Amino acid sequence: MYAPQDDTELLTEALREEAPAPGARVLDVGTGSGALALEAARRGAEVTAVDVSRRAVWTARLNAWLSRVPVRIRHGNLFAPVRDRTYDLILANPPYVPAPDTRRAPRGRSRAWDAGDDGRLLLDRICRDAPALLRPEGVLLIVHSALSDPDRTLELLREAGLKAATVRRRWIALGPVLRSREDWLRRRGLLAPADDREELVVIRAERPR
Ligand SMILES: C[S@@+](CC[C@H](N)C(=O)[O-])C[C@H]1O[C@@H](n2cnc3c(N)ncnc32)[C@H](O)[C@@H]1O
Repeated sequence: MYAPQDDTELLTEALREEAPAPGARVLDVGTGSGALALEAARRGAEVTAVDVSRRAVWTARLNAWLSRVPVRIRHGNLFAPVRDRTYDLILANPPYVPAPDTRRAPRGRSRAWDAGDDGRLLLDRICRDAPALLRPEGVLLIVHSALSDPDRTLELLREAGLKAATVRRRWIALGPVLRSREDWLRRRGLLAPADDREELVVIRAERPR
């Protein structure tokens, strides 16, 4: 289960700045511990959260119960459990770490962060499917590493008709997962020889009225 980290924190800051109105319909896709869903629910939003990991679903349900905030938490693959619904705000901190061994789909704990050899396994699907779930003036906030091509995220969301921009950036030290594949990332040119940090970005994309 993915404990909240720097990416969670950066997206939480963007969520606070977005300040969804009480009663706003919010979706947290890939909710993990439920940290983002709970933050939105504490602000009075009507929140649904989804995760493919049963352990994450039960952890998020427990955290919501302990915090006494109502969050609807569903088990399933990305948007499948909420297919016919629309939202004022979609939050996404998906797996986005480029992974060297892509012969098998990510499994076990690494399913929370590994995302194919370019890190875009989930990002591309979210960029493709999220726009249809946004209400007019609805917003998608998505966090990922600059190693996984934020320009591509901006391009795909703009192609889908959204107004997209990077609204937050933060440099952080390489965590244990990136350090364990540092040589591979450098060979692939994703990490420069002297880089010992990665940059996180939050992209905000709004559906026009
Ligand atoms: C980087 S963690 C983020 C967790 C939490 N939102 C946070 O910010 O701390 C990514 C989460 O996405 C979930 N996930 C991975 N693939 C998914 C999929 N296809 N559909 C739904 N959730 C998925 C993982 O189980 C994990 O909980």
